[in-house]
Amino acid sequence: MSSAIQSSSQPTLLVTGGAGFIGSCFVRQRLAQDDVRVVVLDKLTYAGNLDSLAPVSDDPNFAFEQAGIEDAGEVRRILDQYQPVQIVNFAAESHVDRSIDGPAEFVMTNVLGTFYLLEEARRYYSERSATQQAEFRFLHVSTDEVYGSLGPTGKFTEQTKYAPNSPYSASKASSDHFVRAYHHTYGLPVLITNCSNNYGPYQFPEKLIPLMILNAIAGKPLPLYGDGQNVRDWLFVEDHCQAIWRVLQAGEIGEVYNIGGDAERTNLQIVHTICDVVEELVPNLDHRPRELIQFVQDRPGHDRRYAIDASKIQAQLGWQPSHDFETALRTTVRWYLDNSLWTQRVADGSYAGQRLGIGAN
Ligand code: NAD
Ligand code: DAU
Repeated sequence: MSSAIQSSSQPTLLVTGGAGFIGSCFVRQRLAQDDVRVVVLDKLTYAGNLDSLAPVSDDPNFAFEQAGIEDAGEVRRILDQYQPVQIVNFAAESHVDRSIDGPAEFVMTNVLGTFYLLEEARRYYSERSATQQAEFRFLHVSTDEVYGSLGPTGKFTEQTKYAPNSPYSASKASSDHFVRAYHHTYGLPVLITNCSNNYGPYQFPEKLIPLMILNAIAGKPLPLYGDGQNVRDWLFVEDHCQAIWRVLQAGEIGEVYNIGGDAERTNLQIVHTICDVVEELVPNLDHRPRELIQFVQDRPGHDRRYAIDASKIQAQLGWQPSHDFETALRTTVRWYLDNSLWTQRVADGSYAGQRLGIGAN
């Protein structure tokens, strides 16, 4: 499927993975806030959903192309057809538990896919004029999981040594290295962002927060891996997307920027908060959500703690999150309550909340 984009003088962004959770937020945000055209290139895996782009589907500045980033021929055609000034790469297999069950797909998309996308970006860049080359950027969206696991203290900085522990984080680390290499070897103007855990509307319900919200509403078990004391550093998805936009506009070529919300919580704290918000927002529940919590077999290789030091992006680019955790979590719970049709359609029979990542699938 593709749709025509009207020709104009506005700059065009190519957004890969733009039908996923964070990518679709970035697309909705850009079309609402900025004078740009956006072309989404997305394979529409189980995690990609055109329903997440429904709010912008009639926008004349929006176009969609279904393709994989590993499909060099299609990537080339799309680059030549739309002539984007910049590329933002969100496309990835993103779920750690799925990478434990089936790592091959993570290598195919996150490693090889990023490599083929870089190759096509390199060719495209080499054919631009000097003015176009000065504007061109390849921004690669990555994760704090490449840095491995922290003890009880300390935070990940841009200098932290890579130590990925899951097939997912190893594949993302590999893609980061390729992006870096294309800058150092070929002069491609790249930027890399490494962000902490995101939450918010439109997140596929395999991830902790949407899974717990939906199960707490439905009266289903709330499975906490291990002792529930693993710590993640949570950031509202809209803040992440504003940070990416800021890096795209003002980041220094070849640099890495850590992005985080300074909102460390244990998984048990997260689930308690969700239970309490659900209980408050759904007055006629016939169950007590906190009583649904079950401690289950731990995730293999489960990283204990993540925390981001975001002082570089704050000091150099003036970005900081504008949503506090408790308020934005309430917004998120309310969104899932109001959008049950979205949840039904994206899960579409392919995922019914079952446990992933312990070899059972
Ligand atoms: P997601 O799983 O919700 O979406 C991924 C999107 O990529 C989907 O639309 C999917 O269809 C598409 N896709 C998958 N394989 C593709 C391929 N081969 N070619 C083209 N498109 C393909 O993921 P997300 O949570 O939105 O994450 C987006 C990016 O941000 C990923 O690179 C992820 O590693 C990174 N990230 C995520 C988080 C988080 O908390 N979710 C935090 C930091 C970084
Ligand atoms: O840190 C950034 C990363 O955050 C991103 O790169 C990944 O794409 C994203 O999926 C996320 O990875 P996590 O593994 O941290 O997210 P997940 O939602 O799968 O799990 C969050 C924590 O909750 C983790 O400690 C495992 C735990 N968990 C998860 C699920 C799904 C549970 O205890 N029970 C669950 O059912």
